[in-house]
Amino acid sequence: MNHSWVEVDLGALADNLLLLRQRLGAEAELMPVLKANAYGHGAIEVGRRSQQNGIRWFVTAHLQEALGLKPAVDGAKILVMGVVAPSEVTTLVAQDIIPIITSEEHAVALNAAAGAHGLRLPVHVKLDTGMGRLGFTWLEAGAVLPRVCALPNLDIQGVCSHFAAVDPDDPARAGTQLDRFQDGRALLEQHLGRRLFAHMSASRAFLHLPAGLFDAVRIGILLYGYGAGAFQDALPLRPVLQWKTRVIQVKSVPADFPVGYYGSWRSTQPTDIATIALGYDDGYLRALSNKGHVLIHGVRRPVVGRVSMNWITVDCGADSGVRVGDEVVLLGRQADAEIWADELAGLCGTIAYEILTCIHPHLERRYIS
Ligand SMILES: Cc1ncc(COP(=O)(O)O)c(C=O)c1O
Repeated sequence: MNHSWVEVDLGALADNLLLLRQRLGAEAELMPVLKANAYGHGAIEVGRRSQQNGIRWFVTAHLQEALGLKPAVDGAKILVMGVVAPSEVTTLVAQDIIPIITSEEHAVALNAAAGAHGLRLPVHVKLDTGMGRLGFTWLEAGAVLPRVCALPNLDIQGVCSHFAAVDPDDPARAGTQLDRFQDGRALLEQHLGRRLFAHMSASRAFLHLPAGLFDAVRIGILLYGYGAGAFQDALPLRPVLQWKTRVIQVKSVPADFPVGYYGSWRSTQPTDIATIALGYDDGYLRALSNKGHVLIHGVRRPVVGRVSMNWITVDCGADSGVRVGDEVVLLGRQADAEIWADELAGLCGTIAYEILTCIHPHLERRYIS
C-alpha cells in the first residue's frame, strides 16, 4: 500500500502504432524508440507488443538496453544510437545489434576490433547535420567519409542524422539540416557504390516534414501518446501510461495549519489533508510543490506543501470523504477528470519526455492488454 504503480495500456500502444503506421504509409519503416526503458513504459513489453503488431526495427540509446530487449524481440533489428565500445564488437555481431559510427576515431577503432576477430561489423553512419552532438559534421564529411568508407571490416548499411529543430515557423533550419544530410548521404553512396538505408526523422519531423521520412522514422513520444499537438484530431493518439497510488493518511486540520517543510502552505479554512506515499525519489518532481494536482474520487485536488522525498500532501477540502486506501491518480484518468504528462511538464517548465522518464524504474509496471 505504500508504493505507487504504473499502468501501461498495451492496447492503447497498439492503437497508436496503427495510427502512426497508417500515416507513414507502407514505404518507410517505423522504428519505435525504446530507450530509457521505452520512456518509462517498459522496453520489453512495449517491444514485444510492437513486434506482434508488425514492427521490425527498434532503437535504443545504449548497448545494455539493446541486450536486455533482444530476447523479447528476437528476429527484429535493434539499432543503438549511442557510442558502442570496440570491446563490444563480438557481442554486437553475435546478437545482430547494429551500432552507429560517430567519428573517424570511433570507426577506426571498431574496424580494428572487428578485424581482430575476423568479423565484418554492420554499422550506420551518424551524420551531425546541425545538432552538434554525435556524428561526423558536414564540415568534415568530404575529407573524412571517403576514408571511413574504405575501412574493410565495417559493413556500412545505413546513414542517419537527427534534427535539432523542427519549427514550422522557421522551416529553413530543418531545411538546412536536410540538405546537409542529403549531401552526406550522396557522398557515402557514391563511395560505396550502393544505396544506404537512410533515417533522420523523430516524432516532430515525422509530423511536420514529409521530405524527411526517407527509409525509416525513429518514433518515440508519439508512440506513447504525446506530442501530436495540432495533429491530434487527425492522429488521435492516446497516452499509454497512467501512474497511481493510494492515500496512506488523512487528517482534518483547522485553519492556519502548516503543511510540509517550512510550512510553505497553510490552510485558510478547516480542511482534510491526505498524505500519499510517493515523492521525488519516485520521480514526482519537487517542482510540483504547491503546483501539481492529483485525482481522488474523480476530483482534482491540489498538491500542497513541498513535495518531499517519499511523501506528498494533498488538500482535499472539508468533509472530503477521502479515506486511507483510496486510489489516487497522479497521471491518468479518474471518472471525467484527467491529468497527463504535458500538464505536469508545463508546471515544471519541462517536457513530457522528462516527466515520463523520471518515473522511477523501481515502481511496479502493470500491463493491461
Ligand atoms: C537520435 C534520436 N532519435 C529519435 C528520438 C526519438 O524522439 P521522439 O521521442 O521525439 O520521437 C530521439 C529522442 O530523444 C533521439 O535522440
